[in-house]
Amino acid sequence: AEAKPLQFPIPANVYAETVVSVKHYTDRLFSFRITRPQSLRFRSGEFVMIGLPNAEKPVYRAYSVASPSWDDEVEFFSIKVPDGPLTSELQKIVPGDTVLMRQKSTGTLVLDALTPGKRLFMISTGTGIAPFASLLRDPDTYERYEHVFLTHTCRDVAELTYGQELVANLESDPLIGELTHGRVTLYNSTTREESERMGRITALISSGKFYSDLGIDKLDPETDRIMICGSMHMLKDVKELAESLGFVEGSLNEPGSFVVERAFVG
Ligand code: A2P
Repeated sequence: AEAKPLQFPIPANVYAETVVSVKHYTDRLFSFRITRPQSLRFRSGEFVMIGLPNAEKPVYRAYSVASPSWDDEVEFFSIKVPDGPLTSELQKIVPGDTVLMRQKSTGTLVLDALTPGKRLFMISTGTGIAPFASLLRDPDTYERYEHVFLTHTCRDVAELTYGQELVANLESDPLIGELTHGRVTLYNSTTREESERMGRITALISSGKFYSDLGIDKLDPETDRIMICGSMHMLKDVKELAESLGFVEGSLNEPGSFVVERAFVG
């Protein structure tokens, strides 16, 4: 797509990239892909600050990069907030539009913040799945862990589509398909719309249904690692659950058995 002329100058230390594609999943969720700046470096699981060139001082919001670091485009998964300072406008982007991206990436949801283990559990709600979309396509994930469990809980069935497509497309991926073969399990649920599996992930784990559905051993800090991404309340509850099972929060300075990051919310 051809870039359109801009009304405002590009701020310093900001990439101005072109929208390549946009996909709307529901009236609340959409994903988009932009061109990849040559010099962009990021760890899988990190976030960047995104804005639009529609003001002298653009509004920026944190967005987890959903694409792997080897991809020649950058993908994001976003909520649409009707009166959100950024997403009310961002949801209208079409191929050819310009999106601003601050050059620095950062975040705690990275493999280096975890000690080695056998099973990796990625726990997400809503757009909190985005960093895991990146990590699930990173060969490093499969070098470090034998099996990856991705949980995704949303209000409605249609909101689960992004995660279903992500996992379905993994095995046919020419770069990492073979590596991921038989090693990724998607476990999703809804909380507000009737579906095959209902309930918050906290309730499903606490009741034991999570383990019996999957036929797996209980979460164990000796062998398992957990990454958590969702709303503020979700993070608090899943973090408490992990800690009650003996998991210890890690960081780059001091790797541990679980890490958390708040999903983009408005
Ligand atoms: P619920 O419908 O019971 O609130 P949202 O779109 O609001 O971010 O929510 C995404 C999903 O996260 C919903 O299914 C929601 O369930 C669930 N959720 C919200 N709060 C929590 C929490 N504290 N612990 C676990 N799941 C949560």
